[in-house]
Amino acid sequence: MKKPSKDLMFPLFFPFFLTLLLFPAPILSWKKDEFRNCNQTPFCKRSRSRNPGSCNLVSTDVLISEDGDLVAKLIPKSKRLDFYDENDNNIENGTNIVKPLVLTVSVYQNGIFRLKIDEDKNLGLPKKRFEVPDVVVDEFERTKLYLSRKREEKIGDDLVESSIFYLADGYEGVIRHDPFEVFVREKGSKERVLSLNSNGLFDFEQLKGGKEEGEDWEERFRSHVDSRPYGPQSISFDVTFYGADFVYGIPEHATSLALKPTRGPGIEHSEPYRLFNLDVFEYLHESPFGLYGSIPFMISHGKGRGTSGFFWLNAAEMQIDVLGSGWDAGADKIMMVDQKRIDTLWMAEAGVVDTFFFVGPKPKDVVRQYTSVTGTPAMPQLFATAYHQCRWNYRDEEDVYHVDSKFDEHDIPYDVLWLDIEHTDGKKYFTWDKVLFPNPEEMQNKLASKGRRMVTIVDPHIKRDDSYHIHKEASQNGYYVKDASGKDFDGWCWPGSSSYIDMLSPEIRSWWGDKFSYDSYQGSTPSLYIWNDMNEPSVFNGPEVTMPRDALHYGGVEHRELHNAYGYYFHMATSEGLVKRGNGKDRPFVLSRAFFPGSQRYGAIWTGDNSANWDQLRVSIPMVLTLGLSGISFSGADVGGFFGNPEPELLVRWYQVGAYYPFFRGHAHHDTKRREPWLLGERNTELMSDAIHTRYTLLPYFYTLFREANTSGVPVVRPLWMEFPSDENTFGIDEAFMVGNGLLVQGIYTERATDVSVYLPGEQLWYDLRSGMHYNGGQTHKFEASEENIPSFQRAGTIIPRKDRYRRSSMQMEHDPYTLVIALNSSQAAEGEVYIDDGKSFEFKKGAYIHRRFTFANGKLTSSDIAHSDGKTKYISHCTLERVILLGLSSAYKTALIEPISKKAIIELGPLRLHGGRGPFVPTIRKPGVHMADDWSIQIS
Ligand SMILES: *[C@@H]1O[C@H](CO)[C@@H](O)[C@H](O)[C@H]1NC(C)=O
Ligand SMILES: *[C@@H]1O[C@H](CO)[C@@H](O)[C@H](O)[C@H]1NC(C)=O
Ligand SMILES: *[C@@H]1O[C@H](CO)[C@@H](O)[C@H](O)[C@H]1NC(C)=O
Repeated sequence: MKKPSKDLMFPLFFPFFLTLLLFPAPILSWKKDEFRNCNQTPFCKRSRSRNPGSCNLVSTDVLISEDGDLVAKLIPKSKRLDFYDENDNNIENGTNIVKPLVLTVSVYQNGIFRLKIDEDKNLGLPKKRFEVPDVVVDEFERTKLYLSRKREEKIGDDLVESSIFYLADGYEGVIRHDPFEVFVREKGSKERVLSLNSNGLFDFEQLKGGKEEGEDWEERFRSHVDSRPYGPQSISFDVTFYGADFVYGIPEHATSLALKPTRGPGIEHSEPYRLFNLDVFEYLHESPFGLYGSIPFMISHGKGRGTSGFFWLNAAEMQIDVLGSGWDAGADKIMMVDQKRIDTLWMAEAGVVDTFFFVGPKPKDVVRQYTSVTGTPAMPQLFATAYHQCRWNYRDEEDVYHVDSKFDEHDIPYDVLWLDIEHTDGKKYFTWDKVLFPNPEEMQNKLASKGRRMVTIVDPHIKRDDSYHIHKEASQNGYYVKDASGKDFDGWCWPGSSSYIDMLSPEIRSWWGDKFSYDSYQGSTPSLYIWNDMNEPSVFNGPEVTMPRDALHYGGVEHRELHNAYGYYFHMATSEGLVKRGNGKDRPFVLSRAFFPGSQRYGAIWTGDNSANWDQLRVSIPMVLTLGLSGISFSGADVGGFFGNPEPELLVRWYQVGAYYPFFRGHAHHDTKRREPWLLGERNTELMSDAIHTRYTLLPYFYTLFREANTSGVPVVRPLWMEFPSDENTFGIDEAFMVGNGLLVQGIYTERATDVSVYLPGEQLWYDLRSGMHYNGGQTHKFEASEENIPSFQRAGTIIPRKDRYRRSSMQMEHDPYTLVIALNSSQAAEGEVYIDDGKSFEFKKGAYIHRRFTFANGKLTSSDIAHSDGKTKYISHCTLERVILLGLSSAYKTALIEPISKKAIIELGPLRLHGGRGPFVPTIRKPGVHMADDWSIQIS
């Protein structure tokens, strides 16, 4: 939540402001009492108190279905012989008799299987439990394998047989019957990879037809009552990762990359990691508390086995414990497995078991497997990968023009200027404040003439004002979310009394999308893009600042069942609207605060309302890395910190780190001092400007990485262990990160740092991009901290494309020539890629792009085509190669011969950074004169 503005909130929050006057400082930090902890969350408390081995379910009737799935029933062991008989109705409604559950396993290509467990729909349930639609992509369904057989086998000392089925070459899936357990193992060694219910913590609360005497299903939190008309319906189970040194993932939390245990010996009073999309006011770093988005996907990594992953598609509140070793001391375990492992406990308030197991075995394999289910990230427009300037608020058109011209005056490039809520007429989205923004089209066009774009904010809360066209249509058509009594839900947000569009319905999403057409959104032009905020959804007067769980959506779905996906659907509808307004020609750009698995298909994510302090700068890196591991490669944190005023040094350091965030935006709260890059003294302006320029020179590299993410899911910025999976020293590192496979960047997170230690992984050399010096991998090096930049290194064996000319915006760089920076390894070799397209349309999907691979070996640099194009649709570029920089080249080489143009050049010493001023000078070939789109080679001798 942004800090409420006074005039708006005064009547409602009067006591709040009274306290504010008395205790100005502490009240502004995270308000713990507003949010539930596990003990105040009945399902979490129940699940956590269960003992290992308490699950008494056994699997029975295991068979292969006509669909090629493996199906089974889960029944209580005590009922084993006489329990379930289809013709015998010994199943009573509204009592505590347990009905059999149905288990289904489907196997997919590339080492993935999906395990579903739900109630038996043939047994007349009070209600169908919610399964999240629109997340699993159609392409995934097409990779399904049809199982034709299974075999039965006794495992270890078991008396009962297990069912074994094929999973992938080298792997098989196992359903153990008694006690019930599902796991993946390697075929040859029989070593386990992943398992579910090995600790016997599985529990599934079945829906009931009605209350029994004395039962009270209502839950209360603070002044809020949740009616819970279907009673308790939570699900929980344990998942074990074998051969794991660490587990990662499950964003969004402001915490370390490697997830710390939340239960076990020596860990007291720790909350589980919470996944519940919330608008948290001034969040804390180092907290398992749930923030704006949720992705129930966990990755394990270890030196022994490698990497595996587990994903639970469920949009209800979830809580996840990482169990420290020894957590189960003395308990009755189902199975003693003599393998190193990490146990976890997953608990959800509602929904079904719909889980995916990924076998890896490499980090990039798991990310590829996960994004094959939920989709790879969309290819952004080029401008969106450049620098964004935001503030709550740029006041009026004059302010916009002023900020825009200051960037030019100081020679600082930027691509996008953002307008927050105050640009609207009374917080009615799609409108403009007529006094402050009388000529919005002219304003956008003026910026567009310099290649710049604008972004306006559009939130899901709609002002209940009968003269507002959106409200009129939404209320007349019944497009709002309903409260438990069936009336339009009415909550408090920026505009005051508001209702919320029901984004679960495809019809309503389509209607919403149409609101972005140029006709409908008056004052919008093709250079205007959108920002979705407050879409958790944020409801100032709701329980935990969000919507009541018993609110009702399309199809009778309770809010509790889909809460974590609400923002996802809103993001989807907005993004699809932007595609529609341009007749499907241009790629959309929509930034969202809330997210869910699949959000990567719709746009960028930022880490919400952070604060201007060093800890938050530091935690932004694990947050962005975790999002990337979870499919969302396009993310960043507000540079400078949203709340509070950063010291100039912090702001400069933040720009230096932020220049490497995939999404790079400066943003600040209403009540903070203005902090555009030219306001904090000449020297600081220079430093921030340098950082922004660094990003612009690296745009060709970033864009190439965005394309890699688009095709493979492998994120733009990566944890070190993703590139160096067998280097154990990297497993816990989250202050340094890789940009692609070629750059290692280490932030500086302390005030007045004098030195900074950097671990350089692997066995190859690393080239310091500041000094041109090289350093050995596999060691920690200590460097003097410089105010000018943060440590950054190019890995030997890589080639990185750059554009070094200074321009006002990325669009103005379109025709600029390229520089290739080649970092030679010990065999005097290197390779790299560049991806180029028109930067805006979908033509690349038809093959209109350039994709080149550069290889350097035996003294020869070669450019070859790796585009998968039919040659019919082409992207034409006249860009040339302007410089080749050769790091680590022996001085014996003097000349270069460029073919096929048979041009000779000398190898001279040139600056490593064109505009960096002072040295270093490194071997350079100037003006080879070849085109980036062509085949060519450069032989040195
Ligand atoms: C249980 O309840 C459902 C709906 O309330 C009903 O359709 C079904 O027939 C009932 N089943 C039995 C066995 O009573
Ligand atoms: C890449 O991004 C586009 C949207 O820009 C999307 O349609 C496509 O599915 C993505 N993936 C691939 C492999 O092209
Ligand atoms: C050097 O880099 C090339 C290209 O990336 C690679 O094929 C080769 O294996 C590397 N050599 C060493 C010793 O790592």
